[in-house]
Amino acid sequence: MKNLRVMDHPLIQHKITYLRDIETKTKEFRELAGEIAMLMAYEATQNLPLVEHSVTTPLTTCKGFKLAGRGVVVVPILRAGLGMVDGMLKLIPNASVGHIGLYRDEETLEPMEYYVKLPKDIMEREVILVDPMLATGGSASQAISYLKSQGVKNIRFMCLIGAPEGVQRVNEEHPDVKIFMATLDDHLNQHGYIVPGLGDAGDRLFGTE
Ligand code: PRP
Ligand code: URA
Repeated sequence: MKNLRVMDHPLIQHKITYLRDIETKTKEFRELAGEIAMLMAYEATQNLPLVEHSVTTPLTTCKGFKLAGRGVVVVPILRAGLGMVDGMLKLIPNASVGHIGLYRDEETLEPMEYYVKLPKDIMEREVILVDPMLATGGSASQAISYLKSQGVKNIRFMCLIGAPEGVQRVNEEHPDVKIFMATLDDHLNQHGYIVPGLGDAGDRLFGTE
């Protein structure tokens, strides 16, 4: 599949297995989602633009590098994307955080928007959109369209578990967006849930089952 990077790192696959497990309770689920997001952030931030920056060490002055521009904006899709934010900020502590609130209508599976708050200069920055689940791709695709409507040019999408249907939809609607995924699952069931998946990510993160 195009524009898809699936992380096959052993630590990520180990943690994803515990995340899926029906026996994993809210506290551990939250910890695992954060830890996996942190590990994935390393890969998803590859190729961020750098500028040269000279640095004086105790011995001499040498050439160094800093992230270019105004830095990264992490944008979780509410609610479940919130479970990935703290992990990402461990690796990119100076990132800003924007929010896009979407929920899937249970009948139509169409995303419904209910909240948006983004940094004013987001159009000049690198954006990493995060959501644990990429199912039909409706939520991710709508969030990406919204970011583009605000002038954002550089968008990466990071998720924990994805279905082929979601990857295809994002690829078709946003061929410029690279998807970073911990694991690619088999298919969607008739209710739009990822199989084998992990169930409802928002409910498991926030204990609302
Ligand atoms: C889940 C998930 C994604 C969406 C994925 O959120 O966190 O946002 O479903 O499905 P899609 O690819 O078919 O759009 P949900 O709508 O359940 O809301 P929540 O995070 O508030 O629980
Ligand atoms: N949203 C979830 O939380 N889980 C799925 O499997 C699909 C959408």
